[in-house]
Amino acid sequence: MNSLITIEGVKKTIFGRGVVNQIGPECKSLGASSALLVMDSGLAKTDISTRIQDLIRESGVKAYLYPDVSPEPDPRIADLGAEKVKKDKIACVIGVGGGSSMDVAKAIAVLAKNDGKAVDYIGLNKVKNHGLPTIMVPTTSGTGSETTFTAVFTMRDTKSKGGINSPFLYPNTAILDPELTIDLPPYVTAYTGMDALTHAIESYTSTQAHFMSEPISLRAIELISDNLRGAVFNGKDIQFRENMMMGSYLAGLGLAMSGVGACHSLAYPLGSLFDVPHGVANALMLPYVLEYNYPGNIDKFCWMAIAMDQDVEGISPRDTAAIVAEVVYDLADDIGIPLTLDELKIPEDSIPELAKAAIKVERPLMNNPRPMTLEIIEEIYREAFEG
Ligand SMILES: [Fe+2]
Repeated sequence: MNSLITIEGVKKTIFGRGVVNQIGPECKSLGASSALLVMDSGLAKTDISTRIQDLIRESGVKAYLYPDVSPEPDPRIADLGAEKVKKDKIACVIGVGGGSSMDVAKAIAVLAKNDGKAVDYIGLNKVKNHGLPTIMVPTTSGTGSETTFTAVFTMRDTKSKGGINSPFLYPNTAILDPELTIDLPPYVTAYTGMDALTHAIESYTSTQAHFMSEPISLRAIELISDNLRGAVFNGKDIQFRENMMMGSYLAGLGLAMSGVGACHSLAYPLGSLFDVPHGVANALMLPYVLEYNYPGNIDKFCWMAIAMDQDVEGISPRDTAAIVAEVVYDLADDIGIPLTLDELKIPEDSIPELAKAAIKVERPLMNNPRPMTLEIIEEIYREAFEG
């Protein structure tokens, strides 16, 4: 365990059914008379977008729409948003949607107060100045972006993914309203939920985990594994949605404090080389990574098996720890996640290229409970290819 711990994070979190109604007053409390609403074009056509714009305007705050976020966004989307903010002298930035929209919103806010382009700030601690105030309104229970200091982008010209990582990206306010997730289709619920589970498990078993992140991550594992099937199969039940939103938020807090692990390193190249959505890539790789990882921390894998409601009485710690990969595989199978790279039509001969890209995603690999080499990463991809 790391003995030097600094805890930073989102400044204010408002959680509960219907709390999106507080968005106008929250803008005002940040001193903003205008706000840029960052979302994707699909969400911009829904009642959620209209409702949020109305709520903001009713508070006397001018609302501008930026509905141009695409999945696995290119950093240029943030550059164009920042130009709009500067041109219209907009005072705060609101990210509404999944991780892509919130990440773009966080990047726009800092680019409004820092010269250059988003791509210049990919890396750790490259941002020099505070950005505009931000509010995050997730409409999925998955990414935890509302809690983190990261904005992830996909650079298609270099076929790579990378994040702007800076304490200046921590949002001012997270508005977590589970009612906003009630119409999320089952498949999106499934793979975003698996992304949240990956954050929970990887932050819990991270070599950077500590006395504060561990109970938060473990509670997230419990909430997500108890409620994800319900949210997928019975999505109109608000209790499942509420529990998933709590789980994904806690998983995001765990990730913000202790980082993620090798599953993220192996998932990133599937996104940058083959456009596999982040949640799907993590969900698919997670059981294979866990199967390799469990001997690296038998104790924590035992606690995870218990948090996932497994009856472990009379089973040795090693066998208990090994159960976690199976439980995660069965969950992914039940909720319709593709289980092999073959199912995603990833060519088998791309494995060496995937592995070379994965080993460059160094920070999560350093957090992993069991060290990985290039050969081991290739082997894990091969396992995931065949299932
Ligand atoms: Fe993730």
